[in-house]
Amino acid sequence: MNFSDSEIVASLMQDEGYEVCDESSEADIVFLNTCSIRDHAEQRVRKRLRELRSVKKKNPFVKIGVLGCMAERLKQQLLEEEEAVDMIVGPDAYRDQPALLEQAGAGEKAVNVILSTKETYADIAPLRLDKNGVTAFISIMRGCENFCSYCVVPFTRGKERSRDPQTIVNEARELFAKGYREVTLLGQNVNSYSGEEDSREVPFFELLGRVADVDPRLRVRFATSHPKDISDELLQTIGNTKNICNAIHLPVQSGSNHMLKRMNRKYTREWYLGRIAAMRKYIPDCAVSTDIIAGFCGETGEDHQDTLSIMKEVGYDYAFMFKYSERPGTIAMKKYEDDVPEELKSARLKEIIELQQELSHRSNKSDIGKSFEVLVEGPSRKSDKELMGRNSQNKVVVFPKENYAKGDYVQVRITDCTPATLIGKAV
Ligand code: 5AD
Ligand code: SF4
Repeated sequence: MNFSDSEIVASLMQDEGYEVCDESSEADIVFLNTCSIRDHAEQRVRKRLRELRSVKKKNPFVKIGVLGCMAERLKQQLLEEEEAVDMIVGPDAYRDQPALLEQAGAGEKAVNVILSTKETYADIAPLRLDKNGVTAFISIMRGCENFCSYCVVPFTRGKERSRDPQTIVNEARELFAKGYREVTLLGQNVNSYSGEEDSREVPFFELLGRVADVDPRLRVRFATSHPKDISDELLQTIGNTKNICNAIHLPVQSGSNHMLKRMNRKYTREWYLGRIAAMRKYIPDCAVSTDIIAGFCGETGEDHQDTLSIMKEVGYDYAFMFKYSERPGTIAMKKYEDDVPEELKSARLKEIIELQQELSHRSNKSDIGKSFEVLVEGPSRKSDKELMGRNSQNKVVVFPKENYAKGDYVQVRITDCTPATLIGKAV
């Protein structure tokens, strides 16, 4: 989400005559796009702001702007505590950026953190900041109203709103025409996407099908799905459409019903496993990834075991794993005590990570001998004699370059693997 916000801001600034550069020492304006989801993310931004003081010492005319969630959450406080900051721009205020810049240019501190119920930036063609030219993100909705009790997003990014379907399809079409071969549709909860067209509701599965119709050579992915409302219609659409990738990111957060209730996730362990069973039925070779939080308020050893057991039961291919980090203003902060000691959170997270490594490795080993269609993204990190791409299941595949190039679809047979990568040869 943040990345696609940067692309919107870059596009708006380009309209003002600015260009993107690689080094902050060469810049007239430096924007930090920020995330508030965990305290660690905010601390990193604070550190970067301290580093930017030296850039400002060398060039007193440089302006520094803080964008996104931290701007929303900390507002005035950031201006008072961080002397380097000139502009604070909340996630719905990017269009106001030129006016804020003018204000900052006149030596004033400039702030706009007003949240909107309508802004989707639908008419702005994002300036692509990714370098590979093959894969791109399309933001299809903004905000979130799920209010998971641990989460700051509903407070920093405001009400949920969906972008017009036709603008999304057009964006995918333009990307394809420019040579892109994969788009990922992004939203906090894509299952509750609700576009409007000719006074008719366009649900997410229909949007997904329409984006896939742009061209069979355009792969389509999406994130993130909320387990409470991932529908059979969506699973069927994925199963029946070749260029919609067979990979679903379905954050479980915890395997314990007691924790899920406290987290306000609105599903149970049994419901979640039922959705996984439906996914396996409609999309037999579907990969599944997840998000997990270790050490949420009141988590017992038994709750933690429930998380480990659901991980094994599902057999996740990949996971993002976090220690619970209490966020100011959230429901959890108001209602529950952050009572799992730090060392215990770390020990539980370590167990979760170790288990996931085992599961990822097992899943990769089971792919040895199979062939996959791989979309090439560029040279591999280790050698320019090798290419790197992904299969439909979103696994990274590395293989000898031969005569293949970025943007090609290549059939690759897997001969070996690590826990994180499949290794093969074009067939
Ligand atoms: N502490 C730890 N992890 C969090 N997440 C969201 N809020 C918190 C928090 N307060 C995680 C969830 C979510 C992912 C994007 O970040 O797992 O799915
Ligand atoms: Fe946060 Fe829950 Fe919304 Fe995801 S669905 S952004 S975890 S409130």
